[in-house]
Amino acid sequence: MPPHPSTPSPPSMRAWACTAYGGPGVLQLRDLPHPAPGPGGVLVRMHAASVSSADMRIRAHKLPRGFGLLGRLALGLTRPRRPVLGTDVAGVVEAVGRRVTGWAPGDAVVGVAGMAMGCHAEFCVLPATRPLVRKPGRLSFAEAASLPFGGMAALDFLNRAQVQAGESVLVLGASGAVGSAMVQLAALRGARVTAVCSGANAALAGWLGAQAVIDYTQQDFTRTGERWDVIADTVGASRFDACLPCLHEHGRYLCIAGSLTQVLARPRGTRRSIGGPAAERPHDLQALMDLAESGVLRPVLDCAYPFGDLPAAHAYVETGRKRGAVVLLAPGA
Ligand SMILES: NC(=O)c1ccc[n+]([C@@H]2O[C@H](COP(=O)([O-])OP(=O)(O)OC[C@H]3O[C@@H](n4cnc5c(N)ncnc54)[C@H](OP(=O)(O)O)[C@@H]3O)[C@@H](O)[C@H]2O)c1
Repeated sequence: MPPHPSTPSPPSMRAWACTAYGGPGVLQLRDLPHPAPGPGGVLVRMHAASVSSADMRIRAHKLPRGFGLLGRLALGLTRPRRPVLGTDVAGVVEAVGRRVTGWAPGDAVVGVAGMAMGCHAEFCVLPATRPLVRKPGRLSFAEAASLPFGGMAALDFLNRAQVQAGESVLVLGASGAVGSAMVQLAALRGARVTAVCSGANAALAGWLGAQAVIDYTQQDFTRTGERWDVIADTVGASRFDACLPCLHEHGRYLCIAGSLTQVLARPRGTRRSIGGPAAERPHDLQALMDLAESGVLRPVLDCAYPFGDLPAAHAYVETGRKRGAVVLLAPGA
């Protein structure tokens, strides 16, 4: 039955829905119901949200080898079960649930929705238990949104590998979102960092704190005769067994974007592979934002797309050539 002419329409918001697995054209701009925070939720008005390699992988169903079936079971058989993608947001608190303390309307925040997603919309609700911290005053919303995706993964893997001052760390994919954070965070710990990137990104790697750069288009790092304490592969371009001769005793191989076989690789002598999903802890997000506020962790923001251009942002991310992060801006920004 059509609504009575005097019935006010329910409040709505603009949001991008991923209607199927496929190219960027499966993303459709929709009017969806305006979300309301439950008792433990925080409603955030999005100012900027990252468009990450995870968003692209989910939309395209382009997962590392061996994860196809697991991915469909976890994410949705024929299309994403959670249609509004977007894992991280920087914005302003609009409303809080009755059980939430510590947040009030008007607070500028950075939050990680993670696999619950929903940040590619005018508004999103984050449970207050999720990583949610104050936005550093020195960062713009776009810069703040550029940090959590790569930063949280890099920090978690560095912690799991217990990287210490004086160790040597090779970062494959040093110019990506995870890699650019990994280079900085490892250097901040006092590690000696070798960045593997293309020649075009060598200056960026040096600016981030790498002491040496290997241009992967000119040289294969496994054939340099050098060894490292930690090899962090953020792009899935290597294999644990092929890296064994390049790892010192007690060396760690960080399998951040590898196939299922690589993730499950058994230790070889004193050398081991560390893989799987990165944890998303509130105190890690706080640590990243503290480093950013003090100016020692620098956001690497490739570009920001207007809200209406999300498919173009996805197409760019899918090239695999972005430097650092890509973000989506709020409508009208
Ligand atoms: N395990 C986890 O929990 C977790 C968490 C976050 C992300 N990830 C995964 O981590 C991966 C990286 O994500 P991201 O967003 O950082 O990627 P990204 O930003 O898309 O990486 C792009 C960068 O990688 C460089 N690159 C491409 N091929 C390379 C190669 N063979 N050697 C060295 N550099 C290369 C590119 O530089 P050039 O253009 O110069 O080649 C570009 O700057 C994704 O697969 C993502 O799914 C995993």
